[in-house]
Amino acid sequence: MTEPLRFGLVGCGVIGPVHAEALASLPDALLVAAADLDVERAQKLTATYGGTPYSDLQSMLQRERLDVVIICTPSGLHGEHACQVMRAGRHVIVEKPMEIRREALDEMLRVQQETGVKLAVISQHRFDPASQQVRQLVDDNAFGRLVLGNALIPWWRSQTYYDSGAWRGTWKLDGGGVLMNQSIHSIDLLQWLMGPVKSVVAYTDTLAHRMETEDVAVAALRFASGALGVIAATTGAYPGVTTRIEVFGNQGSAIIENDELAFLHLARDEKEATGDYGVNTKVARPGQEPNSSGASANPAALVATSHALQIADMIRAIRENVTPLVDGYAGRRPVEIILSIYESARTHREMPLL
Ligand SMILES: NC(=O)c1ccc[n+]([C@@H]2O[C@H](COP(=O)([O-])OP(=O)(O)OC[C@H]3O[C@@H](n4cnc5c(N)ncnc54)[C@H](O)[C@@H]3O)[C@@H](O)[C@H]2O)c1
Repeated sequence: MTEPLRFGLVGCGVIGPVHAEALASLPDALLVAAADLDVERAQKLTATYGGTPYSDLQSMLQRERLDVVIICTPSGLHGEHACQVMRAGRHVIVEKPMEIRREALDEMLRVQQETGVKLAVISQHRFDPASQQVRQLVDDNAFGRLVLGNALIPWWRSQTYYDSGAWRGTWKLDGGGVLMNQSIHSIDLLQWLMGPVKSVVAYTDTLAHRMETEDVAVAALRFASGALGVIAATTGAYPGVTTRIEVFGNQGSAIIENDELAFLHLARDEKEATGDYGVNTKVARPGQEPNSSGASANPAALVATSHALQIADMIRAIRENVTPLVDGYAGRRPVEIILSIYESARTHREMPLL
């Protein structure tokens, strides 16, 4: 029998333990070590999930025999830490965003090519059954001509959340606000389902928090396919309301709400043809309240299931020597869209991406 792959983890704050939980659920993975500058966090995590605690990444890399290292440090450190791991000859899984600066993204891709190790970037919602189903329908051309694709993210984060880590809400280490930190999941899903974004026009502002970066943003998108779209995002919508990804085409439409398929209607499945005026189908089920649970209101409410699916995809990629579903090139795409939105908001100009 082959030995499980040996994992190390760096960054044991909010998301580190979610990865540890995910690893514990995978028979082909073993958490061997965890590092954090705040060594008590590494000790707490390893006391629960096993492994040896470290106070820095370099000593963990020097002393432990590791196959894969997961990077869960603040976003602006992802490039430095991922390159350190890849240069040590270990595969790497990087939390989102892959990085926050174009030069760092380029460097990560260059080091990955040079070293030949595998690089995966977390975008766990691509692994949700609803996202997989809608993506399959896009591949089957079931929606016909795609005309409109939207990502709506009316979330809530308190001032206490932003004050809980000196890096949160800063340009230097968070790389942005609601777009770069919270909405990147939905932006990645939107472009994965609708295809590449060709250009953006945007506004951003900071209206509900004391922080450097934006807590509200709107962007109009033109996709390469010709379809249009909208991103509307905030962390100032108390108490945090349903996240929606909407895909509309001339042969069908799908809406994902809080990671689940809330609406799907395809012309190909109709028994009778819809009339010239459509049917104006309702999405909301009678008596249902808007959902304010989950990550829209509380980042620590994350469950590890989708992370486990993505780590399993990386294990398969290593075992079979293939590319993980979200490799460095895929991980870079939502960051490019977000950086272009920031540039458009700053310059009041349309920004081309392709
Ligand atoms: N995929 C998701 O759903 C999801 C959810 C939350 C956070 N994240 C991402 O995970 C990353 C971390 O976010 P968080 O909320 O867990 O942050 P956090 O502040 O709670 O944890 C970060 C940890 O990294 C440690 N750290 C900082 N610099 C370090 C260094 N040089 N070496 C070792 N440890 C260091 C800190 O001490 C802290 O414990 C961010 O990039 C964030 O975008 C992803």
